[in-house]
Amino acid sequence: MQSSDGWSTDDFRRQGKLVLELLTDFVDRGRRGEGDVVGIRSVEELARAMDLARLITEGGADDDRFRALVETFLDSATNLHHPAYIAHQVAVPHYASALADLISGTIANGMAVYEMGPTAGAVEIAVIDWMLAKVGWQPTGRNRDNEPAVGSSPGGGVLTHGGSLANLTAMLAARAAVAPEAWEHGTPADLVVVAPANAHYSLSRAAAAMGLGTSALVAAPTDRLGRVLPDELPELLDRLADDDRRVMAVCANACATATGLYDPVREVGELCRERGLWFHVDGAHGASALLHQDEAWRLAGVDLADSLIWDAHKLLQTSVLCAAVLVRDGRTLAGAFQQDAVYVTEGEREIGFDFILQQFECTKAPLGLKLTMVLALVGEDGLAENIGTLWENTRGIYARIAARSGFETLCEPESNILCFRCEGDDALQTLIRKKLMHDGDFLLSQADVAGRRWLRLAVMNPLTDEATIDRLLDRIEALAAEGN
Ligand SMILES: Cc1ncc(COP(=O)(O)O)c(C=O)c1O
Repeated sequence: MQSSDGWSTDDFRRQGKLVLELLTDFVDRGRRGEGDVVGIRSVEELARAMDLARLITEGGADDDRFRALVETFLDSATNLHHPAYIAHQVAVPHYASALADLISGTIANGMAVYEMGPTAGAVEIAVIDWMLAKVGWQPTGRNRDNEPAVGSSPGGGVLTHGGSLANLTAMLAARAAVAPEAWEHGTPADLVVVAPANAHYSLSRAAAAMGLGTSALVAAPTDRLGRVLPDELPELLDRLADDDRRVMAVCANACATATGLYDPVREVGELCRERGLWFHVDGAHGASALLHQDEAWRLAGVDLADSLIWDAHKLLQTSVLCAAVLVRDGRTLAGAFQQDAVYVTEGEREIGFDFILQQFECTKAPLGLKLTMVLALVGEDGLAENIGTLWENTRGIYARIAARSGFETLCEPESNILCFRCEGDDALQTLIRKKLMHDGDFLLSQADVAGRRWLRLAVMNPLTDEATIDRLLDRIEALAAEGN
């Protein structure tokens, strides 16, 4: 039945089937490696191709125009299902999480307070408790069937729209622990955050947004590849204390965005515990290694942290976005947002949980359903197997590149991220990346590490096999010959 809002459930059923068919074709093409991995064209050209000006102002698209819009959109979209997608840290989503997006979009249960989406709330609590258990922390106790052990403090956490917001949330919890008055009176000027210089920029962005200023980010001592040197940290911490600077948090990468290398989490954690400092682990990308029995050791000691962020949309086959900020002591998260939102909450709830007091967002999508639906189909073991395959494939790709003359690798990979370059200067690396992208053959990223520019692979797709890499190296060789 059509109502005054311009659509009927018959339209939904018919056009929903059409969209699902077009998407299935898109995924099929990608998985077979057919067509371009990305269709870079100018904004004007794409807007014209999609007929955006007319559709936006006039509306009233019939089935043919609706189909044309979706087809044209997908035609130039970046296809993460394609094995030549080796660029950014975004998971190749399992279809189950895409279906969760559809459910979420249809029911629009915005998660600020419990009654806006009780099932979404229960799902998020289950996901957070599952992640806390993987870290070795106590459950939140928000599900009364799953209480923390007697005598231990409950863990805490919320899902956020992305790792950047998760990092900001962790920094707000750290600030509340060190300077609880800051919420009302502003951030004290003596606070600093110690982090390796290659920490994700969302940490310096958080520092700037919190009024600390990016200059409050003090570089931790690192080796040539940007890994924290724990033996040299005490000297820095002593110097900061002598200068009357208070450390709000010490941060470690697990793993680093550019290189995929892990900081020595246990050593940094032990030092922070000794000195009573807030220890934050950015595991946006690499915390998923906790699921794999042969790779989890890289995060040994993560339970010493006070906060950890972990993105499901990077390595847990979950569609963008689904990130978690977790805290060892759930009470610390309550300090992050000291807001009296009584107009939406009812204070102490008898039933359920209001996320609004522990998250930056007010309304939030039911993010947990995406990961839960993937887990429901593949299970923890399936996720672990996928991670194992990506790690193994990356080691294989490394060996292949290292064995080929005319190429140089940065270091042995510790995850599914790998940096390499072909003979030539920095400008040549950028030129090659751009050429591959504009031709639509391969999508790579790039990173500046140890003073030089590298082509960077994030091997997100288990279909990126040796044949794909051989083709890539052949193409790079040919482009380098042209460009040199
Ligand atoms: C280590 C690290 N932290 C944080 C982020 C930010 O995550 P998001 O893109 O979900 O905001 C990234 C993104 O690549 C990352 O690699």
